[in-house]
Amino acid sequence: MKGVNTLKLVIGCDHGALELKDAVKKVLAEFEDIQVEDMGTYTAASVDYPDIAEKVCAEITSGRAERGIVLCGTGLGISIAANKLPGIRAALCHDVFSARMSREHNDANVLAMGGRVIGFGPAGEIVRTWVTTDFSQDERHQRRIDKMMALADK
Ligand code: RB5
Repeated sequence: MKGVNTLKLVIGCDHGALELKDAVKKVLAEFEDIQVEDMGTYTAASVDYPDIAEKVCAEITSGRAERGIVLCGTGLGISIAANKLPGIRAALCHDVFSARMSREHNDANVLAMGGRVIGFGPAGEIVRTWVTTDFSQDERHQRRIDKMMALADK
């Protein structure tokens, strides 16, 4: 299946979402024009979600990747951590509508989900929606995004 554009995407999880990461990678493999890099974690050993958020988001901040998917037990800790990093707009989405809006209105460059919250089926639909939805380019949404990002400098 073709996505909207060729997309360089990084993915990472803590121990709370190891199986969800594998399920999401299978969904991403449906898209021949999405290049996926897995930043770990790779085992069930406990890791700290801020470290994973930092690794994934560094790829985006540096320009090596365009978008990321971050996963932890709830999606909460890793999305909060990701949103501390410059240029990151991480959206915690456990439904398809939010996933679509996070792209159309917020131009989210990171999707977060929780491995202990959502099943693989719904998560797959969220991912398919999120990777194939573009930012609307609407002037009012861009203005709000610019204001939102400027909050980091206050
Ligand atoms: C780890 O046990 C858990 O706290 C983490 O995966 C996440 O849910 C934090 O928000």
